[in-house]
Amino acid sequence: MPINAIPYFVFRDFPEGINREVEQALMQAATGNSFILGEEVEAFEQEFAAAVGAGTGAAIGVGNGFDALVVALKAAGVSPGDEVIVPANTFIATVNAVVHVGATPVLVEPDIHTYNITAETAAEAITKHTKAIIPVHLYGQACQMEELMQLAAAHELIVIEDFAQAQGATFAGKPVGSFGHINATSFYPTKNLGALGDGGAVVTSDAELTAFARMYRNYGQEQKYHNKIVGINSRLDTLQAAVLRVKLQYLDALNAARQRLAQVYLQELQSTGDLILPYTAPKCTHVYHIFNIRTKYRDALQSYLKEQGISTAIHYPVPVHLQQAYAFLGFNAGAFPVAEELANTSLSLPLFPGMTDLEQARVVQAVKEFYQSKNQQW
Ligand SMILES: Cc1ncc(COP(=O)(O)O)c(C=O)c1O
Repeated sequence: MPINAIPYFVFRDFPEGINREVEQALMQAATGNSFILGEEVEAFEQEFAAAVGAGTGAAIGVGNGFDALVVALKAAGVSPGDEVIVPANTFIATVNAVVHVGATPVLVEPDIHTYNITAETAAEAITKHTKAIIPVHLYGQACQMEELMQLAAAHELIVIEDFAQAQGATFAGKPVGSFGHINATSFYPTKNLGALGDGGAVVTSDAELTAFARMYRNYGQEQKYHNKIVGINSRLDTLQAAVLRVKLQYLDALNAARQRLAQVYLQELQSTGDLILPYTAPKCTHVYHIFNIRTKYRDALQSYLKEQGISTAIHYPVPVHLQQAYAFLGFNAGAFPVAEELANTSLSLPLFPGMTDLEQARVVQAVKEFYQSKNQQW
């Protein structure tokens, strides 16, 4: 990468000193005697549950975000024959988890402004086989949880929030991960709360679901060598829990840094060409896991930025129903026009805590130059 290149994402020592704290926590955990579960994981679980505001609830640390969804689905009793409503434009893990427990994913269109599913779009997909809805707080913006919870209550459905991209975001002042019956998140390194490897958590205020999830992630054992159910091995790694305990203390600061950078983009790029900038709905906050812009010139803009040494990403280039893996669902192009439009026009600009003003100014300037060079009316 050239010296003045701007990465899409890079880890910086932000807030300053966090890297040292993480190193110290790692060293301390590495010289301890407990490497599987233990005090460090328990402490993190308590701190994370408190941060998510799970009331009297609990967090259960697991191996990654996919497993968190699987554990949540299993705990909720989702099984073959059940249908689970999922966004057509989510990251593949959400849908894979549904298939993994033998249930049928029912894709629904997102709202064209927020890119999240709504009670309205979900309602159309409810059948007598529907067991659960998985709202995904995509890119870091909370879904309209009040209406979704009302819809679920009216049809006796379970809600499993996928808040992998939105740790710290709120709806009506309440953190995401605290609305659904049992919820799942990921600590993939680039997430707003990221580990130094894989990690995830399930969060719930329901004592029975908590007990199931705790057992299920650890071979189904209630006590050592006493197995009540057939579980899996998906435990949050102890060293990752040590890292996450440090980073959790800075989650608000990390999110504030993302929000500040997002405000600059929103301000500087307004009325630029045909760009559609992120929209934050009433009652929702956005923690900008991803700063997604849309343009019909997406591919040309991405190439232009690349020539200028600016890396970008696309979340996501192929919607779920057009993935080869999901050909069995039997959809063709045109089945989900909103999801397809998003896949064809979305571009994610560089945004990460510790990104400098100078770096961001270069991105803004390059985007503007792209449209000036096109020299057209918009
Ligand atoms: C919305 C969403 N759900 C689930 C996952 C799965 O998390 P993991 O990669 O930790 O398995 C991710 C991210 O990777 C995600 O963005």
